[in-house]
Amino acid sequence: LNYNVNRERRFILQLLFNGLRRLEYRGYDSAGIAIDHDQPLVFRQEGNIESLVKSVYQEVDALGLDLEESFSVHAGIAHTRWATHGEPAPRNSHPQTSGDGNEFLVVHNGVITNYQVLKETLIRHGFTFESETDTEVIPKLAKYVFDKANEGEGSHTVTFSEVVLEVMRHLEGAYALIFKSLHYPNELIACKRGSPLLLGVKVMMSKSDDIKDCTARYMPALQALHASVNVSLWLGFNQEFNEESNSGSTFHDSKFLSNNDHPKELFLSSDANAIVEHTKKVLMIEDGEVVHLKDGNVSILKFDNDKGRHGGSLSRPASVQRALSVLEMEVEQINKGNYEHYMQKEIHEQPESLKTTMRGRLIRGGSCKAKTVLLGGLKDHFKTIRRSRRIVFIGCGTSYNAALAARPILDELSGVPVTMEIASDLLDRQGPIYREDTAVFVSQSGETADTLQALEYALENGALCVGITNTVGSAIARHTHCGVHINAGAEIGVASTKAYTSQIVVMAMLALAIGGDTISSQTRREAIIDGLFDLPNKVREVLNLDQEMKDLAKLLIAEQSLLVFGRGYNYATALEGALKVKEVALMHSEGILAGEMKHGPLALVDENLPIIVIATRDSCFSKQQSVIQQLHARKGRVIVMCSKGEAVSVCPGGLGRVIEVPHVEDCLQPVINVVPLQLLAYHLTVLRGYNVDQPRNLAKSVTTQ
Ligand code: G6P
Repeated sequence: LNYNVNRERRFILQLLFNGLRRLEYRGYDSAGIAIDHDQPLVFRQEGNIESLVKSVYQEVDALGLDLEESFSVHAGIAHTRWATHGEPAPRNSHPQTSGDGNEFLVVHNGVITNYQVLKETLIRHGFTFESETDTEVIPKLAKYVFDKANEGEGSHTVTFSEVVLEVMRHLEGAYALIFKSLHYPNELIACKRGSPLLLGVKVMMSKSDDIKDCTARYMPALQALHASVNVSLWLGFNQEFNEESNSGSTFHDSKFLSNNDHPKELFLSSDANAIVEHTKKVLMIEDGEVVHLKDGNVSILKFDNDKGRHGGSLSRPASVQRALSVLEMEVEQINKGNYEHYMQKEIHEQPESLKTTMRGRLIRGGSCKAKTVLLGGLKDHFKTIRRSRRIVFIGCGTSYNAALAARPILDELSGVPVTMEIASDLLDRQGPIYREDTAVFVSQSGETADTLQALEYALENGALCVGITNTVGSAIARHTHCGVHINAGAEIGVASTKAYTSQIVVMAMLALAIGGDTISSQTRREAIIDGLFDLPNKVREVLNLDQEMKDLAKLLIAEQSLLVFGRGYNYATALEGALKVKEVALMHSEGILAGEMKHGPLALVDENLPIIVIATRDSCFSKQQSVIQQLHARKGRVIVMCSKGEAVSVCPGGLGRVIEVPHVEDCLQPVINVVPLQLLAYHLTVLRGYNVDQPRNLAKSVTTQ
């Protein structure tokens, strides 16, 4: 964070704390903060943000400092951690430091893979390490570079950016970094390779300026500022990928951002959530870029690493021409509203999020009365996709499950063989991806490290790469050839819910769009499109099961384990339902392909183990009826999910408990069926007293491998 010192100042600690609260969903085992005082002051604490806040105020009191006075400074860095190297503890929290005196401080998102070698070298040069983190080598390396450059000099001649550029030459792995230094007070440097980083720019029009309230005053002034440096705003934010990249609007970052006519607040963050309450104007920092903030000005240098780790070259000034993005996000999206938890809010938002996902993409009626699907981001690529040898869907966690849920309809309509890959497994096997393949990358965040690396792998192998993400401007959105945004709105709860249902809907629309208008499939296609139109209402209906699922959760509260049986369209629902229970309610749960029941899982069945069997009406219904009978024959404790009005046919003799859900077109049924399971996982978690939005050991965006 940075701020023009000559104008209005803000209480930087509060600003940083609030930013951390917005990012807490990305990691929450420890946190830290550094701000300028006579020399940088560093606070680090195990636990969540509130523990940090408390400890900062306590330490400040103990030091006898007047907060408002002492901390009206204008540059600070802060970090909330999801531990990769070293347990959650103050010494392992960020900012990591170069040593006593905090000459260099660094916050880091990512993993430095060659840190052991660097650490050994630095130890040989007399450095001692206090943490087990990979990050600690970075500030120490910065100090080493700084000292080396200034050997024999009275005062230092090397610039902050030069120090950081030299550090970058030695780092391998993935990182987004922000540096602060005793030697460069009030300056910040950020750089990245592989991990996300964005810069938010708030141009201040007057002392009390606020973008929301002063839009009319703000926009002309900003436009004038743009015009003066030949800038046009990129407003196509909610369009499809290729429309965005073809927008043709460009600007020269350095020139615009160093325009001094207007004071600015500048924000650097791993994602937009920490920034959106201050500004919606953001610049996605690219790999290899070094951003220098000083006195409210920005300069961006490009580090070209193509020539090898130690041979990277620096081109100056930045020659990159790209667009300033305008976030479409609203602050309300990242608030809980009237709900207790984000997960609860996001489950209940699904009728709306599904509508937004489909908005402008489904066509019904009009002069030709045709029912069709429009996916603008793919329109120039359908020919290639249809001619592909295979379509390979790649993702992790819930995103993978969403692809699996859409698989049957993709199989049926696309006319191209469809396969599924978990990103890490594809990479472990170096599995086949060919030039003639279409590889579809499914990711809510668009930043998941395994999925991103699988994307690089597919690009190297020459496949057409398509992205399906919820995050405009994310690495996957930027690096794929084309794609579809799911437009589900910000998802904060670590357990993905609304993104899952929107992903399925996007992939169902994709199946329709790839399939084209063949006569033979017309009736089916039209039924699916009608079903899609009606889906938000049906989801609203299934949400009425909230209390019923709470009651069920009360019944299951003390269980050790829960199995979920599904097949066909709802195999993925079983996996996803079990994943939700496992990750938030911290209860062992497995999704089981019902067709495999007799090959192992049946051995677990007794009168105690609860088993949910998904048996809604589709072509697998009679097989599921027989599964239920076999479970009853072994005195299984069965809970059946069935279509409304079918309790009698799935519960012979009234045995067991039933969850009745609205019936929709078979391929869309997974969208309905997952909702009660999401509700069950939610209520189980609350009743068992666990943290719903920040489950133990998990993070929302897994940006490290
Ligand atoms: C983490 C999250 C999951 C998510 C998975 C994939 O494990 O906790 O909720 O499904 O990452 O994330 P992505 O952003 O790629 O969909």
